[in-house]
Amino acid sequence: MDICFATNNKNKIEEIGALIHQGFSIRPMSFYNLHEDIPETGTTMEENSRIKAVTVHNKLRIPVIADDSGLEVEALYGAPGVYSARFAGEHGNHTANNQLLLQKLEGIEHRNARFRTVITYISDNTEIQFEGIVEGEIISKERGSKGFGYDPLFVPKGFDRTFAEMSLEEKNGLSHRSRAFEKLAHYLNEQK
Ligand code: IMP
Repeated sequence: MDICFATNNKNKIEEIGALIHQGFSIRPMSFYNLHEDIPETGTTMEENSRIKAVTVHNKLRIPVIADDSGLEVEALYGAPGVYSARFAGEHGNHTANNQLLLQKLEGIEHRNARFRTVITYISDNTEIQFEGIVEGEIISKERGSKGFGYDPLFVPKGFDRTFAEMSLEEKNGLSHRSRAFEKLAHYLNEQK
C-alpha cells in the first residue's frame, strides 16, 4: 500500500520506513509532485497535524500520514508548544529559539519539559491520531552539537546527557517522534 507522508524531511521518512513491515511504501510529498508549504494555522499540535494530513489527502485521495511536534515547558504553561519552530519569531531559527527559552527560564528552578509528537493517519475510511512523549528537563546552558532545535537544552529523564550529546540512534530510541511512529507502525502492521 502506498502512503504519502506529508513532509519532505528525508530523516522522518527513513525513520518510519524502518519500523513498518514490508507491504507499505511511505513516500514524501515531492514523490507526488507536491511542493507547497501547508500553512500551520492550528492552535494545537493535534490541529496542525490534522490540517496537513487532510490537505494532502484531499489532493491525492490515498492514505496520508502527517506529524507535528513541539517542546512543552511546564513553567511556561506548555510554551513554546505548537509554536516551537517560531518561538522567537522567525520560523526555524533554532539559535534564537534556544536563547529565548533560556531567557524565559532564567532564575526558575522548576525546569520540567517534554517533547510531544502527534501523528495523524487518514485514509478514505479512517482518521486516527497517535501521540508520542518524552519527559525531561531544560538545562541552563546548551550542551552538545548533534540533533537540531532544542536538543542542546533537553536532557531526557533518566539520562545526564542532552539529546544533542547522543547519537542519532540513541535519541531515536527514546524520542517523542519514534514513540508516536511506533504506535502508528503497530497500527499499520495490524491492518495487514
Ligand atoms: P516539527 O513539527 O517536527 O517540524 O517540529 C516543530 C519544532 O519543534 C521544530 O522546529 C523544533 O523547534 C521543535 N522540535 C521538534 N522535535 C524536536 C526534536 O527532536 N529536537 C529538538 N527540537 C524539536
